[in-house]
Amino acid sequence: MNQNMLITGGAGFIGSNFIRYIQEQAPEVNIVNLDLLTYAGSQENLRDLPHPEKHILVEADVSDQPLIEGLLHEHNIDTIVHFAAESHVDRSLKGPGAFVQTNIVGTFSLLEAARKVWLQEKRLGKDQLRFHHISTDEVYGSLDPGDPAFEETTPYAPTSPYAASKASSDHLVRAYAHSFGLPITISNCSNNYGPYQFPEKLIPLMILNALTGKPLPIYGDGMQIRDWLYVEDHCAAIYAILNNGKIGESYNIGGGNQPPNIEIVTTICEILDVEDALTQFRPHSQLIEYVTDRPGHDRRYAMNIDKINRDLGWAPSVNLKEGLEKTVRWYLDHIDWLNAIIKEKSYQNWVDINYQGRGTS
Ligand code: NAD
Ligand code: DAU
Repeated sequence: MNQNMLITGGAGFIGSNFIRYIQEQAPEVNIVNLDLLTYAGSQENLRDLPHPEKHILVEADVSDQPLIEGLLHEHNIDTIVHFAAESHVDRSLKGPGAFVQTNIVGTFSLLEAARKVWLQEKRLGKDQLRFHHISTDEVYGSLDPGDPAFEETTPYAPTSPYAASKASSDHLVRAYAHSFGLPITISNCSNNYGPYQFPEKLIPLMILNALTGKPLPIYGDGMQIRDWLYVEDHCAAIYAILNNGKIGESYNIGGGNQPPNIEIVTTICEILDVEDALTQFRPHSQLIEYVTDRPGHDRRYAMNIDKINRDLGWAPSVNLKEGLEKTVRWYLDHIDWLNAIIKEKSYQNWVDINYQGRGTS
């Protein structure tokens, strides 16, 4: 296992961080990166790989089963790490179809390719194979204040089209393990942040808007709670599962950082007041604007990470303040990366669709 790895969605936020992480930990691994390069994926995210000669990018759809079968053969793939997905909740509320197609049908196609090439042709022994599926805490639904954190055994109760599509894909992955003996693991992770995150998600959007003097749109009362995890810690958790995780098991991953959204945004403003001290937009908190809430907005997520901590010895290593400081500095050092995105018409279209005429709350 882990000699020849197929990574789907490796040009996106977490996938590109994971490729960098693997290349640092295990430079000998051959990586085939299958990515459709949608609005969320970019070759710019893969510029600074430590071992570019060990990485091939294949621009293709994860639903293209024949192409995936070809890749499994040609590169003698023994490990699949499946990140590719439509990942933004707000977009799933405006256009759920792409989520059903990529997250459900795409995962199905990948599973079918693995079933055919790995299980029917039996080119490699099962103990040499792994299908690792990347999922989310959102499959568990929403918590009320005081509810215990999600455990691996918490029943699924997704509320958005995004979360429902991820839950469906988790069920398919488990069914392929149960029905066909596919050697799988699944990880359900909480909200990630860090370098290369597309500026549609809360933290990079707030950094970008604050830098350019635009309003910082807080949905509803800003008291929703997420369990923030620095992306490199997520990568380390996935790597631990690949190396020592038990076949057929799911692992929860989370950061233990649970301040409400408004506190996250205020902290970003305070960091920028120091890091971007000469700007006319200081204090950045003056840009905060409460806007109409996300429909069906989940109130709170929290992850119980006892299992991965106990069984695999993983724990988050970056605390939230330190992680936010590193993240803000990364964006300040990569203004060209941000500028390339905001110049795209599709980005401006999305901002108009989601924020224009939203109204204040
Ligand atoms: P992202 O949106 O930044 O990247 C997704 C990548 O998938 C992009 O490179 C995109 O081009 C690619 N992609 C999309 N559709 C595709 C298709 N049909 N075929 C091939 N490639 C396609 O997402 P992310 O934030 O990096 O999330 C990666 C995975 O982690 C997703 O499965 C997501 O559900 C999961 N996850 C994300 C978070 C988070 O906080 N971002 C937390 C938990 C789990
Ligand atoms: O929990 C894991 C999930 O985290 C992942 O599975 C998803 O792929 C990822 O997008 C993320 O989902 P969220 O909806 O929690 O992330 P987002 O960054 O979109 O929003 C975080 C919180 O901030 C949420 O409560 C909504 C709020 N928010 C978001 C945006 C974009 C705002 O208040 N204003 C905004 O403009």
